[in-house]
Amino acid sequence: MIPEFEKTIHLIAAARPNFMKIAPVYHALKDQKWGKPVIVHTGQHYDLNMSDVFFKDLQLPDPDVHLGIGNGTHAEQTGRVMVAYERLIMNARPDLVVVVGDVNSTLACALATAKVSFRYTDEQDQTTAIMQKTPTGGAKLHRPLIAHLEAGLRSFDRTMPEEINRITTDVLADVLWTPSSDADENLVAEGINPAKIIRVGNIMMDSLEMLRAKIEAEQFHKELGVKKGNYGVVTLHRPSNVDNPEALRALCATLSQISKNTALVFPIHPRTRKNLEQFGMLPDLIRNDNLHVLEPLSYVRFMNLIFNCRFAITDSGGIQEETTYLGIPCLTIRDNTERPVTVLQGTNQLCKIEDIENRVSAVLRGGNKKRVKPELWDGRTAARVVASMQELLRIT
Ligand code: UD1
Repeated sequence: MIPEFEKTIHLIAAARPNFMKIAPVYHALKDQKWGKPVIVHTGQHYDLNMSDVFFKDLQLPDPDVHLGIGNGTHAEQTGRVMVAYERLIMNARPDLVVVVGDVNSTLACALATAKVSFRYTDEQDQTTAIMQKTPTGGAKLHRPLIAHLEAGLRSFDRTMPEEINRITTDVLADVLWTPSSDADENLVAEGINPAKIIRVGNIMMDSLEMLRAKIEAEQFHKELGVKKGNYGVVTLHRPSNVDNPEALRALCATLSQISKNTALVFPIHPRTRKNLEQFGMLPDLIRNDNLHVLEPLSYVRFMNLIFNCRFAITDSGGIQEETTYLGIPCLTIRDNTERPVTVLQGTNQLCKIEDIENRVSAVLRGGNKKRVKPELWDGRTAARVVASMQELLRIT
């Protein structure tokens, strides 16, 4: 039986980039006497190699609950998660719901939680819940607290579904755990009460440090036959790059040009693979011996490729941060980034498709940007998150 004083904390995991964010928090929480972490997987990412392998690498147990949502339009996916998660919290009655990042499930779970309300039971600790009055002024209702980890990031580009998810999640959260000072400033500029904002640092670096020894011991780059410091890693999945045939064709032509001199490794996201197949572009990529086309990789294997590469070409958020942390040049194929600290202090540069070849040549000539490791990107973010939780849940 769960002791009376134990708080239940839902950790919402949905898509690939979420798993590296909940893992350090889960590990920091699992031995705490006052709280019980419950992993809720919404099932937004469902393939073995987009989900299960990450649980294994990050030493996470199987999710306590799997909502099995799967694929759909934005509204379908968001709506299905909301309905399923509302049903779950009405029964499970967690004290705190932790949502991470910016995927559809992040918003869906925050929104479902913000609007739910249930009657107190005598056993339930009432000290930290958000109080609401029933319309008749009778029994008290309450809802769990909502915390957003990786709050405050903004690309200022509302055509990105993730930007909508970030803004709306931050409006709903009771506590906003931010990775960098720009995030704090964005939230204050949007009118968020500064008392809710707590800078905890970058949680992704905790996963990286937790698994550093395994990543360094992994020999995946050797298995592929590429030489340390002599190849580039490519990842692409943003709709702006991969849903438009012209952009995707130009990207493929550029990769093929670069691969004439430098080996490239390209683990392909399911969205990108579907489009490459549909537009008939995959066979040429596969035929190219110096371009290694792969299925999505596990965390340890992928990070082993990043640790040993000369540069990365990407449109992912996480890789901009990991390369900055490791001091590896990164070309981000986007017009903007919600992670400006990686450009201002780190090794990241925003790049248009037509400029990639020249920028890669500059990197190969030794044009590494100087970098500073951003403040609080130190592998100790989860400890700060847990300390903040204790304060929030009034654990003494
Ligand atoms: C989602 C997130 C994005 C994140 C990315 C990382 C949103 C709005 N987008 O984008 O922020 O950077 O994940 O991967 O939440 N698919 C599979 N197998 C899977 C998962 C997806 O085949 O395990 C297919 C889907 O069926 C769909 C496509 O890939 O056709 C895209 O998946 P979806 O979850 O809609 O968005 P992502 O592009 O992955």
